[in-house]
Amino acid sequence: MKILYEGKAKILFDDGVPGTLIQHFKDSATAFNAEKKEEFEGKGFLNRAISEHLFTVLAAAGIPTHFVETIDGNRDRVRRVDIIPLEVVVRNRAAGSFVKRFGAPKNLPFVPPLFELYLKDDALGDPQISPEASFALSLATEEEIAQLKVFALTVNEVLTALFAKVGLLLADYKLEFGRTAPGEILLADEISPDTMRLWDPETMESFDKDLFREDKGDLLAGYREVLRRLEATL
Ligand code: TMP
Ligand code: ASP
Repeated sequence: MKILYEGKAKILFDDGVPGTLIQHFKDSATAFNAEKKEEFEGKGFLNRAISEHLFTVLAAAGIPTHFVETIDGNRDRVRRVDIIPLEVVVRNRAAGSFVKRFGAPKNLPFVPPLFELYLKDDALGDPQISPEASFALSLATEEEIAQLKVFALTVNEVLTALFAKVGLLLADYKLEFGRTAPGEILLADEISPDTMRLWDPETMESFDKDLFREDKGDLLAGYREVLRRLEATL
């Protein structure tokens, strides 16, 4: 099988099935633009399973996604898209880079939620970008950005409610979108504790990659608990 792309947390393979690719979730965790790196045996499986659960719930709520089917523990089949080079971040609470850059108090609520774009470019450190600069650089059209915003905020309504049901606060998350050959926009990449912040609403305990970023506890135990709680909703 041909490796089409290898990133920090996933590998995309082309196995010749038209219009699709195989997405392999690695066990590696990185933070701070890969300055910090560690292997966690079983993380790939947990993220694949959590992401599958969330993409299935989102598809049922009318969000078009790239997910086709699970292949095995670490791999799924996804529709082939060209990734739009923008990271779409939605924030319900202040955390992470928002706290660091703007001096906001952690956990400050945002109602309505913040919709932000970052240029997907590791060499540049994924800088924040305005919608206008995204049009000017032909990264996406004005209509596409409007569509991304509608999708991102619908995802927020669905996932905020889902996580609230299992006793978790969805503080923020990152989404990626792609275009199919005919130009349809699909939610792509993954949604997992690598790409979200999930907190216990009372204790503020983390169940996401901050466990690793900030050496706050057992990453695998946090991710396992997220999957356990999601599976209990089925
Ligand atoms: P930030 O606080 O670092 O801006 O991150 C906001 C959210 O986006 C957080 O849930 C982590 C996620 N994220 C990624 O998934 N990938 C990234 O490269 C970055 C910078 C953030
Ligand atoms: N930017 C990602 C994160 O910290 C991963 C990385 O930077 O290596 O969430």
